[in-house]
Amino acid sequence: MLLDIQGLSVRYGRIAAVRDASVNVAEGEVVAVLGANGAGKSSLLKAAIGLVTPNSGHILFAGSDATRWSTAQRLANGLVLVPEGRRIVMSLTVEENLLMGAYARRDLEAVRKEIGVIYERFPNLGERRHMLASVLSGGELQMLAIGRGALARPRLMMLDEPSLGLSPRLVQELFRHLVEINRTGLALLLVEQNTRKALGIASRAYVMELGRVVMSGTPGELLADDRLEAAYLGTGAKA
Ligand SMILES: Nc1ncnc2c1ncn2[C@@H]1O[C@H](COP(=O)(O)OP(=O)(O)O)[C@@H](O)[C@H]1O
Ligand SMILES: [Mg+2]
Repeated sequence: MLLDIQGLSVRYGRIAAVRDASVNVAEGEVVAVLGANGAGKSSLLKAAIGLVTPNSGHILFAGSDATRWSTAQRLANGLVLVPEGRRIVMSLTVEENLLMGAYARRDLEAVRKEIGVIYERFPNLGERRHMLASVLSGGELQMLAIGRGALARPRLMMLDEPSLGLSPRLVQELFRHLVEINRTGLALLLVEQNTRKALGIASRAYVMELGRVVMSGTPGELLADDRLEAAYLGTGAKA
C-alpha cells in the first residue's frame, strides 16, 4: 500500500472526530471517502498530512511509519493535500501560485510544460496567468489549487471536496482532469459529497459516519447497498 491509515482516532478536546478509522490507497489507485457533513472526512485527511495529531493509530506511507513526520516531511516524500477552502495566496499571480507548488523541483523545463498543460485544460487560468489570484472565481481557484498540488509531482494527492461550489460544467471538467492526472500514475484520495461523480472514477470507496468507517467496497458494491444513502444523508446507517 502507498498510504495505509490504521486505526486512526482524532479528538478535538471532548469531540471525537475520527474513531478507529482504517483507510488505504494502493500505488496509482483512486479511492473515495464519502459521508455527510461532520463525518470526520477532513479530519482524516488533516491527520494524514500532519496538520492534526492523531490520538491513536498509525499512518504508513510507502512502507515507512509516517505517523510522527512533520507536514514538510510528508510533502517531501510525495504526499500532498489540496485542502477544502483552497488556501491560494491572493497577493500572488496565478502563475506564481502554480510555481509555489513546484518550489522543490529542479526540472524547470518539465515544470513549464506541465503549467502549459494546465493552461490548456483551464483556459481561464491561462488568460489570467499574470493577474492576481484574487480576480479568480471560486471554480477557478479550485482548479488553481489542484494544479498547484499536482506540480509538486506527488505520489498521492488527497483532495478535500474539490467539486464544492463548482458549476456542473466545471465539475465535469474537474473530474475529467482528475482522471487524466491519475493516468500519469498519481494516486488520488478523494473526499467528496458528490457521491455519484466520485464513485464514477474511484476503484474503491469508504463511507464515514460520525467518525467511523461504516462501509467500504467497490462502487458497484456500495451503490447496491441501501446503507449508502442512509450514511450519506446522515440518517444513521446500521453498521
Ligand atoms: N478544529 C476543530 N475543533 C473542534 N471540533 C472540530 C474541529 N474541526 C472539526 N471539528 C468537529 O469534528 C467533527 C468532524 O469534522 P470534519 O472532519 O470537518 O468532518 P467532515 O469533513 O466530514 O465534514 C465535526 O463534529 C466537527 O464539528
Ligand atoms: Mg470536510
